[in-house]
Amino acid sequence: MIYPIVKYGDPVLEQPAAPVTAFDDELRKLVADMFDSMYEAHGVGLAAPQIGISKHLAVIDVTFKENPSEKLVLVNPQIIHTEGKQAGQEGCLSLPDFREKVTSANRVTVRAQDLEGKFFERTGEGLLARAFLHETDHLNGKLFISHVRGLKRDLIKRKIRKMVKAGEWL
Ligand code: NI
Repeated sequence: MIYPIVKYGDPVLEQPAAPVTAFDDELRKLVADMFDSMYEAHGVGLAAPQIGISKHLAVIDVTFKENPSEKLVLVNPQIIHTEGKQAGQEGCLSLPDFREKVTSANRVTVRAQDLEGKFFERTGEGLLARAFLHETDHLNGKLFISHVRGLKRDLIKRKIRKMVKAGEWL
């Protein structure tokens, strides 16, 4: 099933998601649906709150279908180490058409559970490091524009408010 992507303004995006406690068929189905929904929306990462489900769960595929072995499921992920620095354009499916320069760590280690509940650690660099940070932020109720400097962020919010009024948002 393809879920519609929840856009900025929906409170589900700005509240911390609940931990996943059941590693069952329902979770596996949800993860499959999240990959389908992410690809449909042309994204390389998707957090469960972005489809309106407040659970600590995210999927990532920075290769966008090029390399199925790079498909990553992060259940209850936590960032345990960051180092270095990168700056680049960042976007989010929940803020379509807004891309901003964001500075973040360049090497990030995440600790998460897999679909069986088994813990693992994974270190990513570059785009994958950025995805780890972006998706775990989502699960903590934080959007990438919180990393954009204040004036620029206010401008984005103003533009969105106008689009909401004009019926061009949600
Ligand atoms: Ni996002």
